[in-house]
Amino acid sequence: MTLPAAVILVLCLAVTRAAAAADAPDSKVPPALAKGEALFNANCSVCHGVGARGTTQGPPFLDKVYEPNHHADTAFYRAAEMGVRAHHWKFGDMPKIPGVTRDDLTQIIAYIRWHQKQAGIF
Ligand code: HEC
Repeated sequence: MTLPAAVILVLCLAVTRAAAAADAPDSKVPPALAKGEALFNANCSVCHGVGARGTTQGPPFLDKVYEPNHHADTAFYRAAEMGVRAHHWKFGDMPKIPGVTRDDLTQIIAYIRWHQKQAGIF
């Protein structure tokens, strides 16, 4: 490869990477939480909303009621593994979420806690 061709290739790669970053759902999310974000978006956001902001199907986790002293991490494992009877809201019951492992949930919870901290709820 000639030198100019190599330079052009590197420039193209840089542009592609910049475009991919702009498409990311929330580019402020720390890289260490990217897996938790992807798992949350695949399994929880349909009801709990992008960035855990809630939808018409489920509550936002940015509500004070979900801060760690009210809903500890165990409540999050239990919700996904066993489902939730509607009690705080009027969205109806949450079904259990099959195919999400404990390790997946650990990553999902870290991602949710990060958003809660950003929102200043704890
Ligand atoms: C089909 C919609 C739906 C999906 C998908 C869903 N949830 Fe929920 N979730 C709900 C609803 C509705 C509630 C509110 C129940 C109530 O009234 O308190 C809820 C409540 C919760 C609660 C509170 C439990 C409690 O003890 O009060 C947690 C934690 C939770 N969800 C975690 C998750 C996680 C983690 C995922 C993804 C792995 C997820 N949810 C996916 C609908 C959903």
